[in-house]
Amino acid sequence: MSEASLPFNEKIFPRKLLKEEWERSIKKTEEYWAEKAKAISWFKTWDKVLDDSNPPFYRWFVGGILNICYNALDRHLETPRKHQLAYIWEGEPGDVRTFTYYQIYREVNKLAQILKDFGLKKGDRVAVYLPMIPELPITLLATTRLGGIHTVVFSGFSAEALADRINDCQAKIVITADGSYRRGKIVPLKETADRALANTPTVEKVIVVKRTGQQIPMKEGRDHYYHEVMAKVAPNAYVPPEPMEATEPLFILYTSGTTGKPKGVQHGIGGYLVWAYWTLKWGFSPNEEDIWWCTADIGWITGHTYNVYAPLALGTTSFIFEGTPDYPACDRWWEMIERHGITILYTTPTAIRMFMRFGEEWVNKHDLSTLRLLGSVGEAINPEAWKWYYRVIGKEKLPIIDTWWQTETGGFMISPLAGLELVPLKPGSATNPLPGVYPEVYNEKGEIAPISTRGFLVIKAPWPGMLETLWKDPERYKQTYFGRWPNTYYTGDYAVKDPDGYFWLLGRADEVLKVAGHRIGTVELESELVSHPAVSEAAVMGKEDPVKGEVPVAFVVLRSGYTPSEELRQQLVQHIRSTIGPIATPEAIVIVNKLPKTRSGKIMRRLLKAVLVGAALGDISTLEDEASVEDIKATYEELRKQIEKKQ
Ligand code: WT7
Repeated sequence: MSEASLPFNEKIFPRKLLKEEWERSIKKTEEYWAEKAKAISWFKTWDKVLDDSNPPFYRWFVGGILNICYNALDRHLETPRKHQLAYIWEGEPGDVRTFTYYQIYREVNKLAQILKDFGLKKGDRVAVYLPMIPELPITLLATTRLGGIHTVVFSGFSAEALADRINDCQAKIVITADGSYRRGKIVPLKETADRALANTPTVEKVIVVKRTGQQIPMKEGRDHYYHEVMAKVAPNAYVPPEPMEATEPLFILYTSGTTGKPKGVQHGIGGYLVWAYWTLKWGFSPNEEDIWWCTADIGWITGHTYNVYAPLALGTTSFIFEGTPDYPACDRWWEMIERHGITILYTTPTAIRMFMRFGEEWVNKHDLSTLRLLGSVGEAINPEAWKWYYRVIGKEKLPIIDTWWQTETGGFMISPLAGLELVPLKPGSATNPLPGVYPEVYNEKGEIAPISTRGFLVIKAPWPGMLETLWKDPERYKQTYFGRWPNTYYTGDYAVKDPDGYFWLLGRADEVLKVAGHRIGTVELESELVSHPAVSEAAVMGKEDPVKGEVPVAFVVLRSGYTPSEELRQQLVQHIRSTIGPIATPEAIVIVNKLPKTRSGKIMRRLLKAVLVGAALGDISTLEDEASVEDIKATYEELRKQIEKKQ
């Protein structure tokens, strides 16, 4: 790429290494990644590093043959890592299990044997609906050892959401658990899975991990307890890792978009693994002495990349935890960091804001001196939370690695890099792009926006970790990510670049909410609401929240024959919880007589937003010019009253 220019101002912050790496990665892309890919074990090296002959379907390491499970486990057996810890796991009740690389290798081989006996072949899909227990990474590794494709469905999603995902990718095998622990109570996971499984014709076998031990129905011939089938496999079972093309699919992970049902983001093997490896190494450089704790559930991309593939490929020891931060008390995390000697903490701004609320006395009860690095992900970290994190957790000594990325990007994209060259930090900015990442801020017309002006964040060149496509929907892939500007990846985020070249991420520019860092499509919520018999129309908006960043608020119009009541509101909340899942629970359901619309029938979202933020209706002429000013004013007043009543 000849137009490559350094995206940061070197006069202010000289950054030799980062500058060199970045420039080389952009100007000599293939040479650069060929060199980096040597960190991975290949059965056969690639013929071409980047095939860009059919944009936007970029293919990385074409002709290369590898197995990701081999890279995560087998290759460490030849090194001193063999008997060192891959995972330290703590359950919510306080039970602890540890796995050396060798031990997890054994478990994975046994489970792979079972999956093979159950008929799983290369390319078949396995749906995983598990809580954060060691069997979750074990399942992913056993699946990919055989060349299977996993799709993990976060265990907080509903039966309907699970069934939709299983059916979309036509999974053959489902792995779940009898239940999980949450704040001392049992969440009946198998019960939910069974409701989904009533409508999933492709599923042949279900493996059930016994976690909570209560009686559950097991369907003869279909359902098998994990511990029972594992007991029948030889302890030294060995299943050869399936040789896979680098470009074959590794996993599908569903994520919310601006329209309809969630999209099945498809990642490939080779490019993703190279990206996972280097982003973690550059970002946090975990070494043999570290205990790395990424607090994300493996149900999300952060857990896929930074609780499974990246740390295992690097030979890192990871800590994983089943429970919630405030159970049994508000110092659970700090108590665990102290007890296990955790050295790197990678978490979300929502968690930090929650701890700020709990108060720093909970933190100060514990010795956190083992920590050497802190990280943040999922949403922009507000300077206040950044400073608290820095002062109270980091004792004003530890850098905060604020990583901007997305499900689609596979790994970090814009972030300070403690493992390459640390740049001066600015609270709230994710700083500079990683090598291989070429971001720019565009205005509406697709021109580079002036410095310090808000625009749309785009990525101008392909990078190894990028999604390959959307599962069985290449057209939607093209449209969603490359439809706005040709050959330019559209992130859906607002950003500004400051005079030092630092990027500041300013939230979603589309109809996607970030609730506690989780991505929720407003259109998805709206279509579930109108699927309820009482609702004729719905509009969902994000409302600012001091802890979760934002929360969904739904405006609904009832069908004739229904009258507003608290009971009906509760029913609608329940409806969302059971169709999408508790993470999408609306903060409020505002029942209105009509929604503000333009004459062409478009809902005036900006007016709804103005109501939510309590903004005066000042210049409504810019709000919408197609509807009458009087109408808008009247609707605004009505909505405002409803909102006030609600609070
Ligand atoms: C969206 C992607 C990244 C993995 C977890 C979320 C927002 C993410 C940051 C950050 C500002 C951030 C963006 C992005 N986001 N990290 N450090 N600073 N915003 O993955 O669910 O695919 O969401 O999360 O809006 O587009 P995701």
